[in-house]
Amino acid sequence: MRIAMIGTGYVGLVSGACFSEFGVTVTCVDKDAGKIDRLNRGEIPIYEPGLDELVAKNVKAGRLSFSLDLAASVADADAVFIAVGTPSRRGDGHADLSYVYGAAEEIARGINDYTVVVTKSTVPVGTGREVARIIRKTRPDVEFGVASNPEFLREGSAIGDFLRPDRVVIGTDSDRARAVMRALYRPLYLIETPIVMTSLETAELIKYAANTFLATKITFINEIADLCEKVGADVHDVAKGIGLDGRIGKKFLHPGPGYGGSCFPKDTLALVRTAQDYGSPLRIVETVVDINDKRKKSMADRIVEACGGDVDGKTIAVLGVTFKPNTDDMRDSPSLDIIPALQAKGAVIRAFDPAGQHEAEKLLPGVTWCGDTYETLEGASVIALLTEWNEFRVLDFKRARELMKTPVLVDLRNVYNPDDMEMAGFAYTCVGRPSRYRISNRDLREKVLEA
Ligand code: UDX
Repeated sequence: MRIAMIGTGYVGLVSGACFSEFGVTVTCVDKDAGKIDRLNRGEIPIYEPGLDELVAKNVKAGRLSFSLDLAASVADADAVFIAVGTPSRRGDGHADLSYVYGAAEEIARGINDYTVVVTKSTVPVGTGREVARIIRKTRPDVEFGVASNPEFLREGSAIGDFLRPDRVVIGTDSDRARAVMRALYRPLYLIETPIVMTSLETAELIKYAANTFLATKITFINEIADLCEKVGADVHDVAKGIGLDGRIGKKFLHPGPGYGGSCFPKDTLALVRTAQDYGSPLRIVETVVDINDKRKKSMADRIVEACGGDVDGKTIAVLGVTFKPNTDDMRDSPSLDIIPALQAKGAVIRAFDPAGQHEAEKLLPGVTWCGDTYETLEGASVIALLTEWNEFRVLDFKRARELMKTPVLVDLRNVYNPDDMEMAGFAYTCVGRPSRYRISNRDLREKVLEA
């Protein structure tokens, strides 16, 4: 089988490479000549573990190629996937569909025989029907089907998520399109992956409902974490205690500085707007969006508090700036709220991120970027651990104490254990554990206040 993947962003590139791994012949298309050039030279524009090997292997096997020429790539494809960006539209939070509709028109001009046009980008309810209308209007002569096939992969574990998903969702009203989609996903039938066949509208809504549900679950545990701090409970035990109930489930109950990334913030907002437009407001999701925005902004206060209430002139060592580990993605990362808020209070920021630094340099002016963890700690009054990269999970605290002015750690990802931190001689603040733990060593706290 042969497909074209329009858009070589995160979803397009990973999906294209993974379909070629299934044995499908894939052409990935993009308008960005520099990107296509780099891909043709074997350079992968995003940081995603395992993607470079997967791309190299399938390019070598002749199943995966990259092209600027959309018309030629779609001409003899069985299916064409639209995987272009759907950013939040400035001003109203609706998803901006101009790239999706632009692609639909170009695809229509290029196709010959029966082709299934599939939306892989996260698109609001009704987009698939509009794509069908555009194609029909542009090419009344050609036979085609339209399907919605939302993608649930996570950054950092994208390949595993695509090749071994919990489920595949395919929405279409056409039996012929359904048969083409089934054939493309045949390898997943062999590993008994549930395939959920629905209408176009239902598939479109499933994607938003999944992302907003997960964002709600995170926001719920974040608020429970705040309450734990007040009442002297431990949020991890609460998460375990509720998560073992199969109806609730263990995953996505890890508290932190608020969710970020390329999907949750944009998709929660877009669903809120869609629901309002249809006169069926999603008040839970509206609240989640509001709580999460405020949470990200309030995280700087925790760091200020750990520094005795004042960070003016103090050096803060920030470890991790991406929205999660194993990605270089900075989109809606909590660090984008936290670092400027600390700078506004007079703090001097030294920072290090294993993969996101290049992107972060453009977004976070006035930060001193360091080559590794320990260089970052030099002369610092506090460590702010913002992203749980593995290399921050095994810090040498003796070395850290020698390098720092005062041994204080604000761990917004709960990577460390409060008791271990007391042993390591660090004043320790984390999320959702009893306040007696939060700055555990009274003498040390006094030293911090004096410094
Ligand atoms: C998410 C969805 O998981 C994926 O299905 C969809 O296709 C795209 O959006 P991604 O944004 O890559 O994937 O990352 P994810 O691992 O879901 O994390 C999103 C955010 O939630 C991160 O900021 C992360 O730190 C935060 N998070 C996640 C928590 O704070 N606690 C958790 O328990 C889980």
